Amino acid sequence: MSYPFAMAFAHNGAPPKLSVLGTGYLGATHAVAMVELGYDVVGLDVDEAKVARLSAGEVPFFEPGLPELLRKALDSGRLRFTTSYQDVADFADVHFICVGTPQRKDGYAADLTYVESAFSTLAPLLDRRALVVGKSTVPAGTARRMSELVASLAPSDEVEVAWNPEFLREGFAVEDTLHPDRLVFGVQSAAAEQTLRDAFAPVIASGTPVVVTDFSTAELVKVAANSFLATKISFINAMAEVCEVVHADVTALSEALGYDSRIGKRFLHAGLGFGGGCLPKDIRAFMARAEELGAQDALAFLEEVDAINMRRRARAIDLGRELLDGDYAGKRVCVWGAAFKPNSDDIRDSPALDVAAAAQKLGAAVIVYDPEAMENAKRTYPQLAMASSALEAARNADVLLLLTEWSEFRETDPTMLASVVAAPRIVDGRNALDPATWRAAGWTYRALGRP
Ligand code: UDX
Repeated sequence: MSYPFAMAFAHNGAPPKLSVLGTGYLGATHAVAMVELGYDVVGLDVDEAKVARLSAGEVPFFEPGLPELLRKALDSGRLRFTTSYQDVADFADVHFICVGTPQRKDGYAADLTYVESAFSTLAPLLDRRALVVGKSTVPAGTARRMSELVASLAPSDEVEVAWNPEFLREGFAVEDTLHPDRLVFGVQSAAAEQTLRDAFAPVIASGTPVVVTDFSTAELVKVAANSFLATKISFINAMAEVCEVVHADVTALSEALGYDSRIGKRFLHAGLGFGGGCLPKDIRAFMARAEELGAQDALAFLEEVDAINMRRRARAIDLGRELLDGDYAGKRVCVWGAAFKPNSDDIRDSPALDVAAAAQKLGAAVIVYDPEAMENAKRTYPQLAMASSALEAARNADVLLLLTEWSEFRETDPTMLASVVAAPRIVDGRNALDPATWRAAGWTYRALGRP
């Protein structure tokens, strides 16, 4: 698609220059995508090694399509990376804050250290007109607090804060950034709204709807969206639990439900449940914030959403144990999958690694393989043995646990695989395989929510 970029700025000349603070999944993708859309962008990270790698055209994580686009952006001369806040303050008119908000170690709440640090380091350097736009997922009330902080620290009184939540999915980050379902602008003035419209002109011109709202609503949209998605997944996983009791098939149930256009089939895939750097910690941070605000009753259901999700991991371990005649001790367990979902190397709160570690604790010799997440898995779970291929992991296994539905696993020939393992027994933790085909090839097949 081409963007009527020149046209979009006809009313006021040049497009704003942009900075992106924080070059993780969100920030690096945002920086590269904005260059693709025609802007001049500087990306900042406090991690010098990351800046060096990005400057050399190397994406420090797995994201399909991003390496090609990064090199193209660098070649255009309109993208560079820096560790200098002064550089960023001097260069850009609009600053996007894309740093992480992980779960705090001491509870459910979000850790806002990086957000606070980015705002408070940048603000004292802003001596001219600028808009500082938060994209990080934050608890309600953060944007107002950051706005007050910036007002108290910035030398210029023409500096404003806005909030623009990001909804990108890992694995589809480029596509989601270039063609988002919607843009949400949390602003306090018409001028801030106009600057954001200028900063997203090509996206808006291509038909993307814009919702302009206040700070709190903008903050809530993101956590509400992730809560809804998490609830939808846990709903179908709760149905899977019921299916197991009455010997029904949750995949057929899900298909039938999904044809109802009011329900829709997306995020209705039963299995090991959700993990990753967003859904689990976002629903927990939302509950924590609601409790602080005295609104905990409204979100009590999210506790159950979380509990259903965690129960699926326990159930997968039980299914494996049943296939091993009641005991993991001394058995060789092959785990296919380490990333929290396919097409990602992200292992944050990965259900697959959680199950792998639990099986090992129960005495099994666990061997893991994942097409992209091995390095991350090794770093975080040094106690787990890793194989260099799917077949090597499966060799002589007493049971195979398929826990992340990479296409490489889905496309494996069950007859060939049966000749490699010690016993053809599989737990399909993602309902990714055709049970009839696998059973016909001699496998004892078990899955979550399926007879
Ligand atoms: C999510 C949101 O989709 C995105 O909008 C937000 O910006 C960040 O959080 P992401 O974490 O990249 O994105 O992953 P997503 O594709 O949403 O999947 C989340 C988890 O749910 C994965 O572990 C996935 O395996 C699981 N899932 C998803 C299911 O178990 N069933 C489904 O039907 C869909």
